[in-house]
Amino acid sequence: MKKYEIAVIPGDGIGKEVVPVSLKVLETVAEVHGGLKFEFQSFPWSSEYYIEHGKMMPEDGLKTLKNFESIFLGAIGNPALVPDHISLWGLLIKIRREFEQSINIRPAKYFKGLKSPLVNPNDFDLIVVRENSEGEYSEVGGRIHKGEDELAIQNAVFTKKGTERAMRYAFELAKKRRGHVTSATKSNGIFHSMPFWDEVFNVVKKEYQDVQTASYHIDALAAFFVTRPQIFDVIVASNLFGDILTDIGGAIMGSIGIAPAANINLNGKYPSMFEPVHGSAPDIVGKGIANPIGQIWTAKMMLDHFGEEELGKKLLDVIEDVTNDGIKTPDIGGTSSTEEVGDEICRRLKKAVSV
Ligand code: NAD
Ligand code: IPM
Ligand code: MN
Repeated sequence: MKKYEIAVIPGDGIGKEVVPVSLKVLETVAEVHGGLKFEFQSFPWSSEYYIEHGKMMPEDGLKTLKNFESIFLGAIGNPALVPDHISLWGLLIKIRREFEQSINIRPAKYFKGLKSPLVNPNDFDLIVVRENSEGEYSEVGGRIHKGEDELAIQNAVFTKKGTERAMRYAFELAKKRRGHVTSATKSNGIFHSMPFWDEVFNVVKKEYQDVQTASYHIDALAAFFVTRPQIFDVIVASNLFGDILTDIGGAIMGSIGIAPAANINLNGKYPSMFEPVHGSAPDIVGKGIANPIGQIWTAKMMLDHFGEEELGKKLLDVIEDVTNDGIKTPDIGGTSSTEEVGDEICRRLKKAVSV
């Protein structure tokens, strides 16, 4: 029996709605597998926790999390209670950085049964490799002066190590896929970091002669996501560019509520964290209509990470079938609730594996 101890952080808003449904799906996965066991331990760290304790997690929170195989997180952010930069830097970004989760993998593909807003959505299948620990997300800079002269300076930090790491990951991934990497740049407008990004890309690509490459400025690249996503296989992007591209990735599938993600620790020192692309969606919280697919597909990425790819593939097939049969939440044109979608996925998963 393989046993995985997983720390669960439902977080804020719809995180608390889609996580329990996804845990049920994971329980079902374990049941149909027979030789797999998940032990979940849930932590209430969230904006509400902050209001009560003055911090997003206890002082020894990271020490506690370190002992787990992985972290399964919903979403953080309740701007009505806590400013976003406090809640996010106090938990989500803190975990990503302290646990050296330097890569964020975010797939998007043509999804059976979904109405994509694209004129031609057929058969696109891409993965964004987002640099996850540096870049535009930095605490370097500050705010100075007051009044008329007030200004804010925000420095981006691109290390050679971090940039190469993301690029190498993208090339290795492309070798297992269709052998193509696109670099998201902006070296025409961003004076220091992006010419550096291009230079590193040009060096790294020489190590991968069997992989084809392209390089587009992020503005044009974002437009290509909408007009011809089929040209992409793996895209490597800085932290902020990758963030923006992957919401578009969700949107072109049909809803941001579907898009999954995995924050990967590459050196094996710390757990990886599995958390969908979307946020806590305060506008739909409490209505029972949050799409659970992003979180469930994220659970599938966790299964892949554990080496259970076969079962992961079955789970994704089941999700697509359920969607294709019209059992879906309102964001993708259905009338089902979060729980109904989850329950149907569990039911069909049992059927798919027992026949
Ligand atoms: P959001 O992703 O929460 O919502 C954007 C839009 O997409 C909203 O209209 C929302 O209703 C919809 N949506 C998102 N997920 C959905 C789902 N599963 N089903 C159906 N519809 C869904 O982005 P936002 O509004 O910019 O952010 C809200 C809060 O979440 C903020 O505090 C933000 O900082 C935070 N946030 C957290 C994470 C994270 O923890 N990983 C990610 C993004 C945003
Ligand atoms: C994401 C989110 C986060 C990010 C925010 C909430 C800090 O948008 O995971 O995509 O920008 O990384
Ligand atoms: Mn985002």
